[in-house]
Amino acid sequence: MAKHDAHVVGIDIGTSKISVIIAKLQPSGELEIIGIGKSDARGMRRGSISNLKEVEGSIKSAVHEAESMSGFSIQSAFVSVGGCYLNSINSRGVIAIESKDKPITHAHVQRVLQSASTITISGDQKIFHTIPQEFIVDDQDGISDPAGMFGQRLETNVHILTASVTSLQNIGTVVHNSGIEVAGFVFNLLADSYSVLTPEETELGVALINIGHGTTGIAIFEKGAICHSHIIPIGGEHFTNDLSVGLKTGTLDAEIIKKKYGCALSSMVGDDEMVEVSTASQKKMVVVPRIRVAEILEPRCEELFQLLYENIRDAKLVKTVNSGLVLTGGGSLLPGVTEVAEKIFDHHTRIGEPMGVSGLTNLIGTPIFSTPVGLVIYGARSIESGRLSAKKGFFSKTFGKLFEYFE
Ligand SMILES: Nc1ncnc2c1ncn2[C@@H]1O[C@H](COP(=O)(O)OP(=O)(O)OP(=O)(O)O)[C@@H](O)[C@H]1O
Ligand SMILES: [Mg+2]
Repeated sequence: MAKHDAHVVGIDIGTSKISVIIAKLQPSGELEIIGIGKSDARGMRRGSISNLKEVEGSIKSAVHEAESMSGFSIQSAFVSVGGCYLNSINSRGVIAIESKDKPITHAHVQRVLQSASTITISGDQKIFHTIPQEFIVDDQDGISDPAGMFGQRLETNVHILTASVTSLQNIGTVVHNSGIEVAGFVFNLLADSYSVLTPEETELGVALINIGHGTTGIAIFEKGAICHSHIIPIGGEHFTNDLSVGLKTGTLDAEIIKKKYGCALSSMVGDDEMVEVSTASQKKMVVVPRIRVAEILEPRCEELFQLLYENIRDAKLVKTVNSGLVLTGGGSLLPGVTEVAEKIFDHHTRIGEPMGVSGLTNLIGTPIFSTPVGLVIYGARSIESGRLSAKKGFFSKTFGKLFEYFE
């Protein structure tokens, strides 16, 4: 528990928007949101930075808004990472414990995680998360924190995330040039898991899906830990583009129509519902049946969930998802998405909104803020575990006593 009030900041660099959240970690452990900033993301493409200066400008604007609201000046922040330049792999590490009369220490845990991280990756990739799924001491598996236990052999199964070195450098550069130090890079779906999943879901098995603007990510959690993740370059932007082409309207109008009248399931729309659309070609307003909008969006939504389904089917994880699916990110706000997901996955599906924080909850209680809220919860757990100062140390993990090792 934090001895003094501490501030935790999360910066989510998304394809459509940059959001900044400032939270105060009370001595009681409560995390109170005191500042929120949001700006349209300029210079982003499918979760990656395409123009450093433009992204820097967007970050500065969101930072300014959050600082003005809270009266707090940001020094450092946890920053989301979530583009298609990410890769993930599961690995296993094992070490021998020298003396069976002495307990396993944090140094042993660090060594076994390092051993699990010794994998061959291409030169342009860098490991940025090594997340333990479980530890095994001699033949006892399912251990969340082996420190203090006795044994001769320590093993671990981990989920490793790698990112292209240049992408991480670009994110680090824009944040640094905005006058902020990076406290840690955090995989966006890992951040989401802190804000929208319940401990029961992560224990029983759940698929967390973030439908963003340029990307959609899926992560599977089981026994309290992440065991699979994948990102595909399809998001809300594609839904908007489909509408733009199908209705012959500009993308700005298509985006408005999607948010106002969009539906991913045509059977949910009445035949008599009509929508006013401004057409790019005829430069006038025309009235079209709302079912036409749904008929354009439905195949894209089905394609998206089919791709996600095939990904977890190929990873043999369909049966792991006992608690069903949790959808988050702005794309999950489209009516009908849960129904389409349930149809394709044949699993119960719910929308995940941020929880577990206080203050300004009326402003952040939407799936659009799952990632930045998750970032501050993640950061707060790191501070509470007292390991934040150790740049190469351990960070406490959400749902159990598992530790996370940072390269
Ligand atoms: N009410 C709504 N109905 C349908 N779509 C919506 C709604 N509100 C937001 N969206 C869509 O959500 C998307 C933005 O979501 P989000 O803010 O999670 O993305 P991002 O974090 O910027 O992008 P990414 O995670 O892909 O980098 C946009 O495509 C937007 O059109
Ligand atoms: Mg996002």
